[in-house]
Amino acid sequence: MDTKELVARMSLEEKASLLSGADFWHTKAVERLGIRPVMVSDGPHGLRKQDDKADHLGVNESIKAVCFPAACASTASFDRSLVRQIGEAIGEECRHEQVAINLGPAINIKRSPLCGRNFEYMSEDPYLAGEMAADMIRGIQSKNIGTSVKHFAANDQEHRRMSSDSVVDERTLREIYLPAFEAAAKKGKAWTFMCSYNSLNGTYVNENKWLLTDVLRGEWGFDGYVMSDWGAVSDRVKGVKAGMDLEMPGSGGVNDAEIVKAVREGRLDEKDVDLCVERILIVNQRYLDHADPETTPWDREADHELAGKLAADCMVLLKNEGNILPLKDGEKIAIIGEFAKKPRFQGGGSSHINCFRVTGLLDAVADKAGITYAQGYTAGSEETDEALQAEAVAAARAADKVIVVAGLPDSFESEGYDRSHMRMPANQNALIEAVTAANPHTVILLYNGSPVEMPWADRVQGIIEGYLAGQNVGAANRAVLWGEVNPSGRLPETFPMRLEDTPCWLSYGGEGNTAVYSEGIFVGYRYYGKKRMPVRFPFGYGLSYTSFEYGNLMLSSGSIRDTDTLKVSVDVTNTGSVAGKEVVQLYVSDRESEEVFRPVRELKGFEKISLAPGETKTVSFVLDKRSFAYWSTAVHGWHVETGVFDVQICRNAEEVILSAPVTVESTEILPLTVTEKTIMMDIEKYPAKAAVVRQAVKTAMGTIGADAEKSGAAGEAITEDMGEAMMKYMPLRSLISFSGGQVTHETLAELIDKMNRVK
Ligand code: BGC
Repeated sequence: MDTKELVARMSLEEKASLLSGADFWHTKAVERLGIRPVMVSDGPHGLRKQDDKADHLGVNESIKAVCFPAACASTASFDRSLVRQIGEAIGEECRHEQVAINLGPAINIKRSPLCGRNFEYMSEDPYLAGEMAADMIRGIQSKNIGTSVKHFAANDQEHRRMSSDSVVDERTLREIYLPAFEAAAKKGKAWTFMCSYNSLNGTYVNENKWLLTDVLRGEWGFDGYVMSDWGAVSDRVKGVKAGMDLEMPGSGGVNDAEIVKAVREGRLDEKDVDLCVERILIVNQRYLDHADPETTPWDREADHELAGKLAADCMVLLKNEGNILPLKDGEKIAIIGEFAKKPRFQGGGSSHINCFRVTGLLDAVADKAGITYAQGYTAGSEETDEALQAEAVAAARAADKVIVVAGLPDSFESEGYDRSHMRMPANQNALIEAVTAANPHTVILLYNGSPVEMPWADRVQGIIEGYLAGQNVGAANRAVLWGEVNPSGRLPETFPMRLEDTPCWLSYGGEGNTAVYSEGIFVGYRYYGKKRMPVRFPFGYGLSYTSFEYGNLMLSSGSIRDTDTLKVSVDVTNTGSVAGKEVVQLYVSDRESEEVFRPVRELKGFEKISLAPGETKTVSFVLDKRSFAYWSTAVHGWHVETGVFDVQICRNAEEVILSAPVTVESTEILPLTVTEKTIMMDIEKYPAKAAVVRQAVKTAMGTIGADAEKSGAAGEAITEDMGEAMMKYMPLRSLISFSGGQVTHETLAELIDKMNRVK
């Protein structure tokens, strides 16, 4: 039966009932009409399917499943196919477990390293986050399982997460906080979106019609349903009007009754209710049409292997002095750190997977000769255990090389609260210093979901950012340490020197319930680049065991209009002696921008390629208007300022390898509404308006000139430059002051009117 027909047969009560969950994880049924419930489950890097005792914070156990690399790690792969594979595997698991929708990906922007949930999020860069999210979604949905893109939107802190109001200006929202969601809707074609807890510019997101309907559906063409984050609903009736379809986990019927009452009292149009019901039924039916009739076993072993294989491509080699890595068989290696035995490979909260197996580094190297182990520190503590440390120092001294496995314990970062600093536990920092003093051939392998300060960075020979790499982290680490896999991850975020350097240091977390995003668009590398501020490791940074050379950067044209596309190609050669993968990064830099402040450069393309030694590949990109545009608050749309842009192929956000200019001509003139406050310089850009005003100005300036001449001041007090500046910055209203009575309020109004009638 057609969905509309089905909805027409329902009572208002039945319809309202479908707009909230039956319990924590299920939608409701209407048996008499054959409407079946579906199950949703977290997300985002595995399957957290709870059988009976349900909660949304990861407190109670879920079925045994597989934890894939968390988004902090998988995004570091810069590899769309990698996240797609994770998606496919999760989708397959959901299918076997009869879960209709996996609650992810989570794609909020990493505004500050302090956000407790950064480990679940993808990047500080919206383009990277959007591209990776789209492929993750495609992977999951290729198995006919839905996704729920979260947490929409501007939910970039955990502090006061259910009450905080994110105050974000229009351009910043459009350029930084919305594009990843836009890509998830447009490219990923996500089945559902999850609205966040916070408010946005004063309106709770779950009641925000502008966001949920005008932008998400109207502009981006989203045709699925929006569910609330768990417990995010405030005023349910406003929510229905705004397009917030499904309340989760449901309020025991309280809010369903509110909906019925509001319709009966004429405060809510029943058509709005129908629309929400339709959207939920259509998406759920998409799943049900092909759903497995019962749960069936799936190959956990295969997914464990896959998790390890993929995690290896997420490791970011940050330092490799004297080529300390890869390790060679036959070397005596001391592995130090409790994390080598009990790895930290996922974060706390709703994404917590009940892993059927965990393989840490020690497990993974059990068959290798010449390895000694010392615990070194206690993971849950900040206190140095002198005995453990002394044992570790002795092991380090006796070894050829040392691997210290360190990072953040669970309590340091989690859903539900933010970090208060960026430091590692004091005992681990002390251990690293002591071990490095005993044996300088030391490599630090880090497990953390967000940047940490590295006071020892200059004293160690090697650093690998391992992030939270999933349950088979040990296999991935082993592969990279011994060179079975050449590391190819790149940082999807900047690692600043210290917390005080971060763009929102002065305002992160907000005052009370108000979090003003005062740094605007200057988030992550957009800020550090503009400030020319030294950072520990820039966005996009990562090393390899081989080397790559770039050449032959070609643009399809040296000059385009903003409606054209530009093809870019570049040759990349593996000039080393081992095979490796390179992440080719393309940034666009606006040479001169008069209309708005712009970052030094912005990521507009990336490709990961595999190259054998000596091999060359040509990598191509297509740039379009969006690659050059900024969000104009004058037209409330994307706009290109005519001028020269540099297309830059970079090793990371700081290091340009090749660059070629292109002139982009705008086909759109920003409208100018002239008022008496409008200044001459702005009018000059509009020849027809300028012609109208020129005559009037001439008269006015003639008067100034005459006065000045009379007093003998001309040429002395008013230099040519100053005269020009005065002219440029003069508002129209000054014509009244300076025209000696020739321009009156009435004639000025006429003049302005005339100017507004021409282009
Ligand atoms: C989290 C969501 C999660 C939901 C269900 C909420 O607390 O913010 O990310 O999907 O719980 O567990």
